[in-house]
Amino acid sequence: MTSENTRQKPTPASEQQSKRLAGKTAVITGGASGMGRSTALRFLAEGANVVVADFNQATGATLMEEAEGLGFIERLIFIATDVAREQDVEAALVLASDTFGQLDIVFNNAGVGGAIGPLVETTTESWDYTMDVLAKGVFLGIKHAARIMRRQGSGGSIINTASIAALSGDAGPLVYSAAKAAVVSMTKSAAVELAQDRIRVNAICPGFIATPLADGGKPEKTREIFSRSQPWPEYGKGDHIAGAALFFASDDSIFVTGDALVVDGGLTAAGPELSRKMPRTSGRNSKVAGVTKGSTGEEPELKML
Ligand SMILES: NC(=O)c1ccc[n+]([C@@H]2O[C@H](COP(=O)([O-])OP(=O)(O)OC[C@H]3O[C@@H](n4cnc5c(N)ncnc54)[C@H](O)[C@@H]3O)[C@@H](O)[C@H]2O)c1
Repeated sequence: MTSENTRQKPTPASEQQSKRLAGKTAVITGGASGMGRSTALRFLAEGANVVVADFNQATGATLMEEAEGLGFIERLIFIATDVAREQDVEAALVLASDTFGQLDIVFNNAGVGGAIGPLVETTTESWDYTMDVLAKGVFLGIKHAARIMRRQGSGGSIINTASIAALSGDAGPLVYSAAKAAVVSMTKSAAVELAQDRIRVNAICPGFIATPLADGGKPEKTREIFSRSQPWPEYGKGDHIAGAALFFASDDSIFVTGDALVVDGGLTAAGPELSRKMPRTSGRNSKVAGVTKGSTGEEPELKML
């Protein structure tokens, strides 16, 4: 929000109607960077009021400048927040509902890589920090969103950023993976508990997404590596996650709750990647087609391609 002299013209009612989040209010944690930032800009473009709650005030200020240039500034607030602190999370959600009169969507998305290295070198302090941001932060977001939304009585949509690291043993560091598995689990439990209040709770499990978190300060190299990291031929972008978040935020997903949507360009679908490791007999580059009959004693029926 900004002063009178930069106030934009109100959007005509007809234009507002066609936007999928017109009149809705969303809080996005970790919304100053990466996929949270992409989602904030997408939600704003779809007519929502947005509160970005992020630890980093410098990137928050940059986002505000960008939003001003795009004519969104009247519908965007930044609040410095540590999602591991209950009073910060509650304050961000209360700010949204007090300022805009309603809280409809909460995207619990803030995150860090957290503890890295071998498990035998992992300290309890780094475990606590990682779990505090990634798991407790999401719990607090769900808890206070549910309180406000239940009081409003008009339902709502809570979206949590998990990860494909929640789903297998080698897609992220140990503590990070455990925290993200907790996010998937909390999503399902909360979805069941809050369904009667028409509060939906869903998770997104991103694959490799080229954001500042993942690129280690080398965006070009990361994009190049990520382009080759999954079956889909382009690298994952914040916008891909924003699209999934918009689906969960809008009424298009009105009957979807307790889901953990994988958004990874086919990375987990590929699994052990047999067709890459043994290309002779499976997949599109296979040199042979037909049917094998195992230990039946019957001959395979094969043709060379
Ligand atoms: N990038 C990937 O490949 C990938 C894959 C799977 C899941 N994720 C998850 O996606 C989410 C967003 O990550 P991103 O890739 O956009 O990273 P990013 O670093 O670009 O953005 C994360 C944001 O979270 C904020 N943040 C960190 N700790 C915070 C705290 N304690 N309180 C408030 N804000 C805090 C940061 O300041 C930053 O703005 C994270 O939960 C991350 O674990 C990322």
